Amino acid sequence: MMERTVTGLARAVSTVLGALVTALLLAAPAAAADPGAGGALGESSQECLSCHESEGMTAVFADGQELDVHVDPKTFASSVHGRAGLECDACHADAGEYPHPAPSKSLPVWRLEQQQTCAWCHSEGEDFDLGAHGRALTRGDPYVPSCTTCHGDAHAIAPVANAQFRAGIVDTCARCHGSDELMRKHGVMTGTVSSYLAEFHGLTASLLEEEKAASIPVAVCSDCHGAHRILPADDPHSSVYVTNLVATCRKCHPQATEAFAAAWTMHRSPESHPLVRAIAWFYRIVTGVAVAGFFGYIGLELARGRAQGRGGR
Ligand code: HEC
Ligand code: HEC
Ligand code: HEC
Ligand code: HEC
Ligand code: HEC
Ligand code: HEC
Ligand code: HEC
Repeated sequence: MMERTVTGLARAVSTVLGALVTALLLAAPAAAADPGAGGALGESSQECLSCHESEGMTAVFADGQELDVHVDPKTFASSVHGRAGLECDACHADAGEYPHPAPSKSLPVWRLEQQQTCAWCHSEGEDFDLGAHGRALTRGDPYVPSCTTCHGDAHAIAPVANAQFRAGIVDTCARCHGSDELMRKHGVMTGTVSSYLAEFHGLTASLLEEEKAASIPVAVCSDCHGAHRILPADDPHSSVYVTNLVATCRKCHPQATEAFAAAWTMHRSPESHPLVRAIAWFYRIVTGVAVAGFFGYIGLELARGRAQGRGGR
């Protein structure tokens, strides 16, 4: 009896110890993978940061514009790239030596070049170049977004599954598409943001964002338009092109039919939908005919009355 209790106790203790060891083993890699501060960054990054973590240094570009060159080690270390173990020179391949070569470009041109490094590792770069924004950027249009316009500070990029990133997408698109003036200048449909916010998905998304909900299940701009190869709606490759629209809705409405997609009034006021417009015209014609008939009838009645009166006299 006593012996059994002891072995029982020993087994219990060893089980608890075993669980503890397992827990520690499981926790260890997780702890090691979390860099916390800049401390976990590699030696070459530490070297860059030995200068760049101090505040107050600026670079002067060929056009005379100044840029603050402070980089916060903690922010970078906790970004998706810091966590993935990227070093500074993974993106800044030409900044290896100090003194750096003197900036020979204007700040906007330099910035654009920096963005091109993203495509070294991400196929999204290629997709982006093929979309409306990328094509305009290649033409030198400064009013379109590039990678960091949507993904934020180059040293603080977050995973796209991050709830905050998803919640911010509508606001990001709205920064430009909310401006009728900018859109009119580019010949792009205006009012897309306000119409989105007034329809079911937009209304729900903005309510959820206000409540700081963990996730926004309803469609945000990029769920329908894509994020990188965003195309004009009349391009047959666009995810919102008439014949592709049902497939886009089906990502979330598996039962969606052609009629379901077609019945939705999109960014236009209900009056602009072909069916609604047809019905409106139908009523206009019916009313027109009825009114014309009514006046016609009165006219005929009057004429008859007059004719009868004349005949009677
Ligand atoms: C000894 C200090 C020092 C070191 C080490 C250093 N930098 Fe710099 N860096 C500067 C200063 C100062 C500037 C401001 C412009 C200038 O003086 O060249 C600058 C500017 C920059 C710029 C702005 C654009 C440009 O080319 O001027 C980038 C990007 C940059 N550094 C990246 C890095 C990277 C990456 C490393 C590590 C591989 C690094 N720096 C190492 C001091 C340093
Ligand atoms: C994932 C790519 C990437 C990595 C990794 C990266 N940078 Fe950058 N960095 C950029 C881009 C892109 C810009 C241009 C940002 C912009 O549009 O102004 C930039 C800009 C800079 C600038 C100019 C000032 C500024 O903040 O715009 C400095 C200095 C700099 N980086 C230093 C560093 C240092 C030091 C590290 C390592 C701790 C590092 N970078 C890691 C992509 C990267
Ligand atoms: C107009 C805004 C916008 C621009 C510009 C943009 N992105 Fe994105 N990106 C998004 C959104 C939104 C997502 C979320 C996923 C989705 O909807 O496809 C995303 C997702 C991503 C992902 C994760 C892909 C995945 O499915 O895991 C990467 C990597 C990425 N972008 C890189 C880039 C690069 C590189 C550039 C520049 C060439 C860029 N993005 C430009 C909005 C943008
Ligand atoms: C040297 C290669 C390299 C470069 C250059 C690079 N990245 Fe990344 N990026 C990675 C790695 C590795 C990851 C983490 C693993 C993953 O999720 O794909 C990552 C992750 C991301 C993610 C999160 C993806 C997700 O699934 O949530 C985004 C967004 C992103 N990068 C955008 C950019 C942008 C914008 C630039 C340019 C400023 C850039 N990257 C430059 C290698 C790179
Ligand atoms: C920095 C400003 C800016 C941001 C942010 C932006 N756009 Fe754009 N977008 C433009 C401009 C400017 C054009 C017109 C480009 C051209 O001249 O072809 C455009 C074009 C488009 C087009 C094609 C319209 C057409 O008729 O050719 C669509 C669709 C679009 N954007 C959707 C989006 C979505 C969705 C987002 C957010 C994920 C977004 N945009 C973010 C500025 C922006
Ligand atoms: C539920 C799907 C859906 C969502 C969400 C959505 N759109 Fe659209 N969008 C469409 C469809 C479909 C069209 C084309 C219909 C039309 O011509 O009326 C379109 C057209 C556009 C156009 C004009 C494109 C062109 O070539 O004329 C722009 C710009 C645009 N949307 C921007 C946005 C922005 C910005 C958001 C978020 C605020 C957004 N959309 C949200 C489906 C969507
Ligand atoms: C990212 C996911 C997503 C996409 C893409 C999406 N929706 Fe929705 N939609 C939702 C969610 C979630 C609801 C709310 C739940 C519900 O009622 O089904 C909703 C509700 C609706 C509603 C109102 C309520 C209902 O169920 O009838 C309509 C209408 C609608 N969506 C039409 C569309 C159309 C048309 C498209 C394609 C152009 C589309 N949606 C694309 C997620 C999406």
